[in-house]
Amino acid sequence: MAVLRSLSVLLARPFAVHARATNRAHFKSPARGLATTKAPSSLFTPLDTFADRHIGPDDHEISHMLKKLGYDSMDAFIADTVPDKIRTSATSVGNESIPSLSESELFQRAKELGRANKPFKSYIGMGYHNAVVPPVILRNVMESPAWYTPYTPYQPEIAQGRLESLVNFQTMVMSLTSMDIANASLLDEATAAAEGMVMAFTGSNGKKRTFFADNGVAPQTVAVLRTRAKGFGIKLVVGDALEDLNDEALRKDLCGVLVQYPDVNGAVKDFSGLAHSVHTAGALLVCATDLLALTMLKPPGEWGADIVLGNSARFGVPAGYGGPHAAFFACTDKLKRKMPGRLIGRSRDVNGKPAYRLALQTREQHIRREKATSNICTSQALLANMAAMYAVYHGPVSLQRIAQKVHCLTQTVKTAVEYYGYKAVSTHFFDTLTIDVSSAVKDADAVHAAALAAGINLRKVDAKHVGLTLDESVGAEDVVSLINVFARAASQPAISASDLTPSETLAVPDPLRRTSRILPHPVFNTHHSETEMLRYIYHLQSKDLGLEHAMIPLGSCTMKLNSTSSMVPLTWPEFSPVHPFAPKDQVEGYLQVIKELEEDLCKITGFAACSLQPNSGAAGEYAGLSVIRAYHESRGEGHRDICLIPLSAHGTNPASAVMAGLKVVPVKTHADGNLDLEDLRTKAEKHKDNLAAFMITYPSTFGVFEHGVQDACKIIHDNGGQVYLDGANLNAQIGLTNPAICGGDVCHMNLHKTFAIPHGGGGPGVGPICVAGHLSPFLPSHPLVATGGDKAIEAVAAAPFGSASILLISWAYIKMLGGSGLSDASKVALLNANYMAHRLSGHYTLRYKNGNNRVAHELLIDLAEFDKAAGLKVMDFAKRLQDYSFHPPTCSWPTPTCMLIEPTESETLEEIDRFCDAMIQIRKEAEDIITGKQPKDNNVLKNAPHPISVIALSEEEWNRPYSRQTAAYPVPWLLERKFWPTTSRIDDAYGDLHLICDCPSVEELASTH
Ligand SMILES: Cc1ncc(COP(=O)(O)O)c(C=O)c1O
Repeated sequence: MAVLRSLSVLLARPFAVHARATNRAHFKSPARGLATTKAPSSLFTPLDTFADRHIGPDDHEISHMLKKLGYDSMDAFIADTVPDKIRTSATSVGNESIPSLSESELFQRAKELGRANKPFKSYIGMGYHNAVVPPVILRNVMESPAWYTPYTPYQPEIAQGRLESLVNFQTMVMSLTSMDIANASLLDEATAAAEGMVMAFTGSNGKKRTFFADNGVAPQTVAVLRTRAKGFGIKLVVGDALEDLNDEALRKDLCGVLVQYPDVNGAVKDFSGLAHSVHTAGALLVCATDLLALTMLKPPGEWGADIVLGNSARFGVPAGYGGPHAAFFACTDKLKRKMPGRLIGRSRDVNGKPAYRLALQTREQHIRREKATSNICTSQALLANMAAMYAVYHGPVSLQRIAQKVHCLTQTVKTAVEYYGYKAVSTHFFDTLTIDVSSAVKDADAVHAAALAAGINLRKVDAKHVGLTLDESVGAEDVVSLINVFARAASQPAISASDLTPSETLAVPDPLRRTSRILPHPVFNTHHSETEMLRYIYHLQSKDLGLEHAMIPLGSCTMKLNSTSSMVPLTWPEFSPVHPFAPKDQVEGYLQVIKELEEDLCKITGFAACSLQPNSGAAGEYAGLSVIRAYHESRGEGHRDICLIPLSAHGTNPASAVMAGLKVVPVKTHADGNLDLEDLRTKAEKHKDNLAAFMITYPSTFGVFEHGVQDACKIIHDNGGQVYLDGANLNAQIGLTNPAICGGDVCHMNLHKTFAIPHGGGGPGVGPICVAGHLSPFLPSHPLVATGGDKAIEAVAAAPFGSASILLISWAYIKMLGGSGLSDASKVALLNANYMAHRLSGHYTLRYKNGNNRVAHELLIDLAEFDKAAGLKVMDFAKRLQDYSFHPPTCSWPTPTCMLIEPTESETLEEIDRFCDAMIQIRKEAEDIITGKQPKDNNVLKNAPHPISVIALSEEEWNRPYSRQTAAYPVPWLLERKFWPTTSRIDDAYGDLHLICDCPSVEELASTH
């Protein structure tokens, strides 16, 4: 009652705070409508041009901002902002080199390319399935900006929805694998296996160097292991884990063993004896597995595995020609502090209310820089959320039914083909058969030919064997077609559905059957009707602030528009279900998109060749540095192993360098953020005999276009090193400068920043690398689909083109903007940041400006003075911004006392002004604290954010020296645009001390209520 009364009093009161709020009249340009501000040149000129939809400010707003900064033209502004000596010619990225398409033209082109993909049904398996995506999840999660636009949940008070869903993912993995703890996803199964290998290696303190992979492990996983083993100096041995591990010398040096369960050929083997033997050798057993199979099979946690991993995509995520998919990773409690990737844990807010947040923040291992053993930053949050929702929707009973059906249909196929004289190699299997064709037909080609004629892909094993994997999408008609492939090849009569005798027996031996319960938690046993599921999805998303609500001005993250037009094609049936190992003549549409994207990225970066394989920026860093190492080796200079990295670099840089086998030597930066060229020269010369590489971010992580970038690169080249340019900030460069002209040899790009792939709440990402001509022979290969150069390093990801389906987004973005639009986008990104710097200066201390008073595409403000004056920390400002319904900027990085703000080109002047008004108003609130008008320990900043549950406290409970209006509605526009944080500030330390990373159980829920 008290709560209701105080709320009604609050709502009835006149809005007293209005008088205090900023009265700034926002600049409003004349309405421009959806079409371009420039009149079309002819009747045939398309009106649905993308640049005007993507770039926030229109021509009037741009003139207004330029005027405020003292310029009468964009060119004059750019001349003062980007150093002259690194400028490229105006036409290097223009409409002549990259012509622009309107939105409708783009759709037409995407359709044409989609039709060039042939709709074969793939039974290739090898870790990839035809997933059935429940429409309620497809439309309301995968295709919903509420789920795909938010950032990694570093601000948990406005991210409880996706945090809860990620905890569902962790719980699902823990339950199905029977492991103690699981993380919130990794990039793909192969790189997850590589992380497992490195954990085993570091677990032995690097003393034992042999890691053994069973020959039932998928070849793409083994290839990635080989690449990763090289950097760490691990000796990788591939063989039969059940036969070859008795060798004493091998056992002495053994740090870990990887098995696959069921294995790539489908066999389900009992590894419990192996687990015992591996443990007696003091090593770890790592198991790659399949979540659907584990609903029927005894889980690895029950037979002794230490680390369990795999791909969760068959839980409702499309194959997408290789991804993106969420890998899962689980381990025993003993190993939890060494686990890579993000981990979500339960904690509580300052009022004791349970809440989720990223646990053990240093788990983002790259924060430990060169001491890190993993560089995972962006992972696969969106896809993990889809898989978790799939499990929530289906629940344990339905999942087990799906598994049972898949298994029994596989058994049915086996019985039928054996009737024709073929022989399945394994008697124990789940959904995959390897079939010996020798007693039925001449060779495997005969079966493949019959399959292709029926529009079917089988797995190519060797001349004597073919493989097939069934999945949830397979129905009776599919089974008939599949059996008839074998019948036709063996010149037997075709069958029809009425001839089928469904097999109901289980091809799993008793000791390997699952007896333990799966997914008992209430969340997996509640939302099974579509109505309930829809409400659950919307309930969670309503707690999260995404780009659909407001600007997310995260410096270094480039949170720009993820246009619907560029997102639409990837879920079309022409692109969505394609298997990554489908023959190339069936994927010509995809290959054309890949070719065009590679070419455009080369034009943009000024480099000669591109690899789209890496699945994140950090994966790109690792790939690029591995390419540099291979280049040095090819010249007989494999000893070069020193990597110079500025202290201001992102933590993934040193972590990736270590993974590529390099030793990190830090280089100083000046207080203003500029690289200390003298320190660089001294260190480059000191290490000239062993210098491998220098990593530089451009513009720097301080938002600085350093004038000395070319000099820095020359110093490195003069001393025998190669330059790696971290292109996370490429949005500041396009059409104005490029990594090649700056002096780089290789760069990665974050397509999930500059090229508009949405961040998905923490992934997916794509981190392609572009390289100069001399490095192109070394670009990564793949064991199943030809990629890379003629001296290629081995694979860095499971799929040949990484997360291929989302390449469509960046392809569409580039094609629709065209060269001129891309360049305009960079110019406006610089202008928006400089206008913001102009508005905030005088209120906040800007850490850096160049000699012309200009910042780059982001600005760094220093809040140290507020700490000194009143004990106000960066986080207090950040949390208070949440009360203003904004996502805070990047906090405490690259300097602990700073905020890094990046508006991007997509934000309109009105939104930028709104954000600046909020920051200025918060500055005034801070002043009240400094001058003692508000107490230092009980004020609007320290108590921020203010969720509705706090605003609704009774008069007696409201013990704060400011009103509720001041807390929740400090400026008038919030009356229209309020986004409520769902919790008060979260207590990180409590959560880390009481680490709980799964959903509440029935008992816990009962006791809470
Ligand atoms: C400068 C810089 N480099 C590298 C990365 C790593 O990219 P990713 O998160 O895709 O691994 C980031 C990510 O924020 C970054 O800001």
